[in-house]
Amino acid sequence: MFENIKLVIDGPIGTLTFNRPDKLNAVNGPTLDELDAALGQAEDNADLRVLILTGAGPKAFVAGADIKELEARDFVRGRRDTRRRQEVYTRIEKLSIPSIAALNGWTLGTGLEIAMACTIRIASSKAKLGQPEVKLGITPGAGGSQRLPRLVGMGRAMEMILTGEPVTAEQALAMGLVNRVVEPDQLMPEALKMAETISARPRLAVQYCKEAVYRASEGSLEAGLAHESYLHALSCATEDKKEGVAAFLEKRDPVFSGR
Ligand code: COA
Repeated sequence: MFENIKLVIDGPIGTLTFNRPDKLNAVNGPTLDELDAALGQAEDNADLRVLILTGAGPKAFVAGADIKELEARDFVRGRRDTRRRQEVYTRIEKLSIPSIAALNGWTLGTGLEIAMACTIRIASSKAKLGQPEVKLGITPGAGGSQRLPRLVGMGRAMEMILTGEPVTAEQALAMGLVNRVVEPDQLMPEALKMAETISARPRLAVQYCKEAVYRASEGSLEAGLAHESYLHALSCATEDKKEGVAAFLEKRDPVFSGR
């Protein structure tokens, strides 16, 4: 049982909700610890196929790190707290299953950093996304300066990080920061639809595809191609590959076993 997070698992789809709506779901230390523990529960659940992350209330996904806690953050805490946050958000990225960030409102600072650690992002037309840290006299510290340029390119990332100004959901869509923009009441249905589509695909192929695509932003093309070939060979050794190919050739729906 968590206080600042809600984790609901319904068969193959889990929904993790940041749940401090009166503080616009700002992530404080206890919320970070709960997020870490919730990710552990997700990892331990063998039936889970997709994790959706969203925010409680009508206003925010996550409006940043808790600024109250920033008051006491000096050099030593700055280093320790950012490394810890980086570790937890990287845990989202490294889940064997994909994650979908459903951005229902303000997605600022650490909120955008969490969203960028997710595999896919869908935004409500009311969402606004930004890295406002510079306005507080600090830099992003939990992946913002590294994941944002990888997603939108150096120039756009520089503009967002140096001005600290948020972009609208439509602007985020145009720069590839989010995959889709939908009306607010369609956000969760759209996220669930995408989660259902992915969870109908064979588990191991999805896991290997995700790992292969992440490789595209690390290291050389040559190393990426070698890893792609290895993951493809691994997928060829699964039972679901035999079933997927046989089902196509026999003109029937596949029945995947997850092996
Ligand atoms: N940390 C702590 N508390 C926060 C917060 C944060 N990052 N963001 C919002 N809150 C709190 C507010 O202090 C307020 O609490 P209160 O009612 O006890 O005073 C409550 O959430 C509602 O926020 P409020 O500012 O009144 O809402 P708004 O609609 O007027 O403005 C924002 C929304 C997002 C523009 C504004 O809250 C904001 O700028 N937040 C900080 C964003 C930021 O800099 N994040 C990066 C931190 S590194």
